[in-house]
Amino acid sequence: MFKTLREDIQTIFAKDPAARSWLEVILCYPGLQALWWHRVAHFLWRHRLYLLARLLSHISRFFTGIEIHPGAKIGRRFFIDHGMGVVIGETAEIGDDVLLYQGVVLGGTTLEKKKRHPTLGSNVVVGSAAILLGPITIGDRALIGANSVVVKSVPPGATVVGVPGRVVGDKKEEIEKLEHGKLPDPVAEAIGLVLMRQGKLVRRLKMLEISAGITAAKDELEEQIRELEMTFSQGEGI
Ligand SMILES: CC(C)(COP(=O)(O)OP(=O)(O)OC[C@H]1O[C@@H](n2cnc3c(N)ncnc32)[C@H](O)[C@@H]1OP(=O)(O)O)[C@@H](O)C(=O)NCCC(=O)NCCS
Repeated sequence: MFKTLREDIQTIFAKDPAARSWLEVILCYPGLQALWWHRVAHFLWRHRLYLLARLLSHISRFFTGIEIHPGAKIGRRFFIDHGMGVVIGETAEIGDDVLLYQGVVLGGTTLEKKKRHPTLGSNVVVGSAAILLGPITIGDRALIGANSVVVKSVPPGATVVGVPGRVVGDKKEEIEKLEHGKLPDPVAEAIGLVLMRQGKLVRRLKMLEISAGITAAKDELEEQIRELEMTFSQGEGI
C-alpha cells in the first residue's frame, strides 16, 4: 500500500513542475486527495457497500471539487491536475499514466444502466474542460485538446481538438520511450531487400542450370555475399 501511495506522489512530481515538496503535494493537490478517497470508495463499491461508497465520493467532491463515481475503474499513476469541476462517471475506465486537467468530464449519453462512459487507454492526456461522452475508447497516448467535445472513439497516439473533436495529428511512437539502440535504418533495410531479391534470383538461376544440365563455375563471391546477407538481416538469414 505504501508503495502505491509513494508512486501517486512521485507521479505528481513527474507531471507538475510546480510541485515542490511531499508535504505540499499531500496537502495542496486535490487531484491526489480525490484519488485516495476514490480508492477507498471503490473498495467499498466492489464490496457492495454502495451507499457508503457514494457517501465517501460525495464528501471527496465537497473537499476537492472533483467528482469520481466509486464504480469508475482507475489505473496506476493517475493524476488530475488542479481538478475543480472534473466529473468521472460510473462506468468510466482509465488506464495507467493518465493525466486529466480541471473541468474534464467523462460522461454518459444514455440513461440505460449499461456501459455508458468512456474508456481511456494508457498515457492519455485530456486538456482542461474537455468533454468525452459515451462508451467511446480513447487509444493509448492520445491527446485531447482543451475544450474539445469528443463523442467518437480516438485511435492510439492521435491528437484531437475542437467541437466536435477532430484528429489534427498523431504520434505513432512514444518519443520518451524510443530505444536509441533500435533506431530505424532505412539504408540497411534497402540493402537487405536488394540482397534478398538477389538471393532469390541466384537460387532460381541455379535451379534452371541444374534442370538444363549446365555446370557453372563456383561463384567466388558466394561466401562474402552470404555474410553480407546475414549482416543485413540481423543474423536471421534471408
Ligand atoms: C491538444 C494539445 C495537446 C495539442 O498540442 P500539440 O500536440 O503541441 O499540438 P499543436 O499545439 O501543434 O496544435 C495542433 C493544431 O491544433 C490546434 N489546437 C491545439 N489545441 C487546440 C485546442 N485545445 N482547441 C482547438 N484547436 C487546438 C492548433 O492551433 C494547431 O492547429 P494548426 O495545425 O491549424 O495550426 C494541446 O494544444 C492542448 O490543448 N493541451 C491541453 C493542455 C491543458 O489543458 N493544460 C491545462 C493546464 S492548467
